[in-house]
Amino acid sequence: MKLLNSKIVFIMMIGFVLVLAACGKQNSNNGSSKDKVLNVGTEATFAPFEYQQKGKIVGFDVDLLNAVAKQAGYKISIKNTGWDAMLAGLQNKELDVGMAGITINDERKKSYDFSNPYFESKSMIVFKKGTNIKTAKDLIGKKVGVQNGTTGQFTAESILGKNSNKISKYETSALCFTALKSGDVDAVVTDNAVALQYVKNNPNSNLETVTDKSFKSEYYGIAFPKNSDLKAKFDKALTKVMDNGEYAKIYKKWFNKQPDVDVLKNAAK
Ligand code: ARG
Repeated sequence: MKLLNSKIVFIMMIGFVLVLAACGKQNSNNGSSKDKVLNVGTEATFAPFEYQQKGKIVGFDVDLLNAVAKQAGYKISIKNTGWDAMLAGLQNKELDVGMAGITINDERKKSYDFSNPYFESKSMIVFKKGTNIKTAKDLIGKKVGVQNGTTGQFTAESILGKNSNKISKYETSALCFTALKSGDVDAVVTDNAVALQYVKNNPNSNLETVTDKSFKSEYYGIAFPKNSDLKAKFDKALTKVMDNGEYAKIYKKWFNKQPDVDVLKNAAK
């Protein structure tokens, strides 16, 4: 009798677990978007936007995405997929979101959807003090490092030519700076906030930066797969986060100054 009882209890327990599992599954499929966790890809060597600290991905982008996703009723799970895998993951819809200081441009808009602009950026040149670089033209004849497939590459190409063998393309942003440090390249072209952060973080590397009048403003957007219904929701949430002061708070934390939200809003028009 005792044995029979425990058998029944055991079978009941298994049944219970199965029912729970089924419920859980149903929830994640049909449940309200409130609990939905979005898969986010990034390239986390791009301080101060996204970088690893004690095994965690942190940065301005991470804080902003958390705030915007929360506002839209989502949670996020962010992974350091790398740049190319992030873009591929958006194209084949394995990722819900790409957040990596991604510049919105017409070419990319063919393959991805973007939120409204959340940050203004420009290309900047980083080099060792003593290298004679005052304007973009001075890059001619020098070895230039860029992150592959980024606007830094496009800027360098506009100066040195598209197939210039003087341009070295690296898979991550960090590898460009490693190459600069070791002397494999004479200069790096990257986004201004990242360039300035690197110089600040490496005071003993004797680095200098310059911009050029020809470098145009770019705007970062949160990327989604084409036709994702997240775009509308995130645009609404981003506006809210800009209007309720959360954006300014996050911006202040990472850049130690007040943002110009109107510039971003005008760029969205
Ligand atoms: N803003 C530039 C672009 O979109 C560079 C972005 C690089 N981002 C990164 N996380 N490494 O091309």
